[in-house]
Amino acid sequence: MRTVILSDIHANLEALETVLEDVGSRAHDRIICLGDVIGYGPDPCACIDLVEKHCAFSLLGNHDFACLYEPTNFNPIAVQGSYWTRAQFEPSSGGVRDEHAARRQAFLHLMRTYAFLDDDRDYLLVHASPRKPLSEYLFQDDVQKPGKIAAAFGAMRGSYAFVGHTHVPGVFSAEHDERGRVSMASLFEFDYGNELPGPFELDTVEGRMSFIVNPGSVGQPRDGDPRASYAILDTSGRVPVIEFHRVSYPAEVTRSKILANDQLADRLGDRLIAGE
Ligand SMILES: [Fe+2]
Repeated sequence: MRTVILSDIHANLEALETVLEDVGSRAHDRIICLGDVIGYGPDPCACIDLVEKHCAFSLLGNHDFACLYEPTNFNPIAVQGSYWTRAQFEPSSGGVRDEHAARRQAFLHLMRTYAFLDDDRDYLLVHASPRKPLSEYLFQDDVQKPGKIAAAFGAMRGSYAFVGHTHVPGVFSAEHDERGRVSMASLFEFDYGNELPGPFELDTVEGRMSFIVNPGSVGQPRDGDPRASYAILDTSGRVPVIEFHRVSYPAEVTRSKILANDQLADRLGDRLIAGE
């Protein structure tokens, strides 16, 4: 089974369309999304529609939560953007009734905070972290923080977790002692100045290793590489394998839409060009 894992689309239609086209050229069985379909970007409704059409499901991200409920721990730019985003899902705006509003609202309400892939507890899916599925960032530097990393791995139910939220792709791995505690953690991160890494084997070495995988962000990459990021998980062999992909998309078009929208800060467009 080859599962395409998208995350953090952030209402970036150009990035999502380009990724879906790229996905279409590769062998895959299904597409899933780890949340933050909306927020920051200029096309929340179109992105919800595409995710609903192409993805088996999407989890709830903190920006999806902000649209359904309220922004939590957001900076002022994100708060302003989330209020504008929320307004796009209202049943009518500017006196025009939107016949799709109810369906989009229903789709948002169906988003779960966590899921297991095929109900297999070995494969946890969350937006942010196994411990705090909506809010906790697992940054690259956290590999140096034994308490935090042990708590993250300790909250997993099995060997694998897939998270988004930081918008930075990578693989955290942990080695466990005979009592199951994390004895050593490390990080497989990428230098996109170089070639993409080849497929990465998620080998638990008979239960001694576990992994937290971040596919990166489709619509707002923050690792210095502005190309849209996603991953494909292949569970057909003895050992699961994760592949990372990057695709260039017309970020200038998305940026122009943001600059033309007085409720979305210009910075949200500029950062797409820089990939930060
Ligand atoms: Fe996000």
